[in-house]
Formats: sequence, structure tokens, C-alpha cells
Amino acid sequence: MTDDLFMTELNPLADVSEQVCAVVWRDNALELLDQRLLPGAVRYQRLTTVNETARAIRDMVVRGAPAIGIAVGYGVVLAARARYAKDPAAWQTRISVDLALLADSRPTAVNLCWALQRMERCMDGLAGDPAAALLAEARAIHTEDIAANRRMGQLGAALLGARGSVLTHCNAGALATGGYGTALGVIRAGYAAGLIDRVYADETRPWLQGARLTAWELVQDRIPTTLLADAAAAALLRQGQVRWVIVGADRIAANGDVANKIGTYHLALAARYHGVRFMVVAPTSTVDMSLADGSAIPIEQRAAEELLSLGGQPVAATGVEVWNPSFDVTPAELVDALVTERGVALQPDARQLARLMASRDSE
Ligand code: MRU
Repeated sequence: MTDDLFMTELNPLADVSEQVCAVVWRDNALELLDQRLLPGAVRYQRLTTVNETARAIRDMVVRGAPAIGIAVGYGVVLAARARYAKDPAAWQTRISVDLALLADSRPTAVNLCWALQRMERCMDGLAGDPAAALLAEARAIHTEDIAANRRMGQLGAALLGARGSVLTHCNAGALATGGYGTALGVIRAGYAAGLIDRVYADETRPWLQGARLTAWELVQDRIPTTLLADAAAAALLRQGQVRWVIVGADRIAANGDVANKIGTYHLALAARYHGVRFMVVAPTSTVDMSLADGSAIPIEQRAAEELLSLGGQPVAATGVEVWNPSFDVTPAELVDALVTERGVALQPDARQLARLMASRDSE
């Protein structure tokens, strides 16, 4: 692994969504903001090989479905550059090992496979040194994601209605995307429009994306934010101030079933019971039309250690077994609104997903 680490100072007067980039291509290398260290340190890892990229995705240096897809795009550039330098005649055959390595790095976020397929289509028919063409494609994936987030922010905010509070889970913000965020993009746009007075952020056990990442983004953007334990969410929804639960997604099946961070499903159940609306915000790169419903979505199981200890300290009885799925699937019937860059589906179903996927970006 590279030892080329460095620290970055943030400007406290500027919005975090404007200055924090989870994924950066700089000086011919991939730089990833190490999200394992936040909020304690803003530190980037500099990666120059595809092996380092796959490891960084697996170890959650970079996380969040769209950000993983963007990192994969740049990872393919690193792979092609190395393969072409070694064997200009056979690089397109030899790179298949690297593509498989990237494909295996995390199983649930479909943006990873989507980005790989897009980079493979770009590779087809390339003659000579592929680096420039592939870098242009990776950059396009990155900039298109930011534009999609801005568009979804506007579309989602337009659904919010009267001013009130919202609840979010995990981190679907600037850190999880090319910038601005999906769920947090809607929250940023809604707050700017005066439609949101407070954001409740689930801490998101066991990895604490809510406590460490969402709270970090929102506090720096000076958006009033209250942190709660995941187990407190149903009691909060019963109180009546929260008007919407707003979350991102890792993979959406053709019928609108949504895989997202573990704990999303019980939020959707509690929201429906208490009459709180439930919004999923995700680019169409997160939609997997090859899966008829959510039962076929691969769910990543993560290490037992994530539950057995906290901050390096053991917290569970020695010898206990662990079930640690990283994601769950929320049935489409619990989703009130699905917001994509191509438009909105209210009460999404297979027919609406097909319509959205066949349409062009919303005007
Ligand atoms: O395990 P993570 O942190 O990669 O999980 C992230 C999520 O579940 C996000 O909600 C999802 O990827 C959407 S990010 C815009």
C-alpha cells in the first residue's frame, strides 16, 4: 500500500459539499479520502494500482454506492495504464483479471458493476495507448454523478411540502458520491429552500456512517442536526415532527425494491405505521433492471469483529456468534417516492421503473 498520505485543512467558512471530494484524480493517481478516519482526520490515500483500489473499496476507505462506482472508473484507468505499459499488444485480454478483482471488491452496490460495464464499453475498439480515452470516461462518470445529485436535490425538495424535520440513515452525502449527495442532496436543497428545519441522523451501527460522516457533513454546512441511536428512530417517528424519512440506495430492483444500509427496512416499516413518508434518492446507475425483485440482490455479510468490538475494545461475550449483514431490502410498497435524475416515481413499481429507465434525464 502506498505510504503517500497527507492531511488536508478544510475552510470552516465554506460548505463541506463544495470542498470535500471523496474521490479525486490528481497527478496521474487516484486519491481517496479515507472515510475510516473521519471525523477525526481529513486524510487522503494516494493509489497508483488497481490492487490498491480494490483493497480500498473492500476496506471502506471509500464507500457509498456512487462513490464506489466512480473509484472503479479511475481504478480501470490505473489497470489499463499498467497492462498497456507491460504488453501493448495484449493489454485488453490481460486486464480481465483486474476487472474481476474490482468486481469482487463489494457485492451489493450495483454502481460498481455499472461503472465497470461502462469502462469496458469504452475499452472496446480502442487502438494504441488507452489511458487518455479511459480517463475521459472515468471523469465523465464522476461529473455526471455530481450533476445527477444536483438534479435529484431539486426534484426531491419539490416533494417535501410544508416545513418540518426529516430523518436520514447511513451517509448518502457528498462523501458517498461524486459530490453534494443523494439523500443529503435533497436535504441540502430542502434546507436552502426553507422546507427543512432539522435533520435527525441515525448513528448507523455498526460502522457509524451517520454519527461520523452524515453528522460531520451537516454540522459543517450549519444545518441543524440531531444524532440518535438507530433503536430510537421509531420512538422519534411517533412524536410527529418528522415529515419524511430520506435515504439513498445501493441497488434498486426492477420492481422498485430497495437495498440500502442495514436498518433502512425497519425505518420504512416504522414510517408507514406512523404515517411518515419515505423517500429513496438514487441515480439510475443504482437501478438494476436485470433483477425482477429485491430477493435476488446479493447482501454483503461483513466481519463479526464489527459487532464484537467498539473502538478497538471488546464489547460482546466471548464465544457468541454474529450475524452482520451490511444491507437490507425495503419492499417497494413501503416507498412513497423514488427520486432519480430522470424524474420521480411516486409509489414506485415495475411499470414506473421501466418508464423511468426508458426516459432521458428530466429537463
Ligand atoms: O456500507 P456503505 O457505507 O458503503 O453503505 C452506504 C449506503 O448504504 C448508502 O446509503 C448508499 O450507498 C447510498 S450512498 C449515496
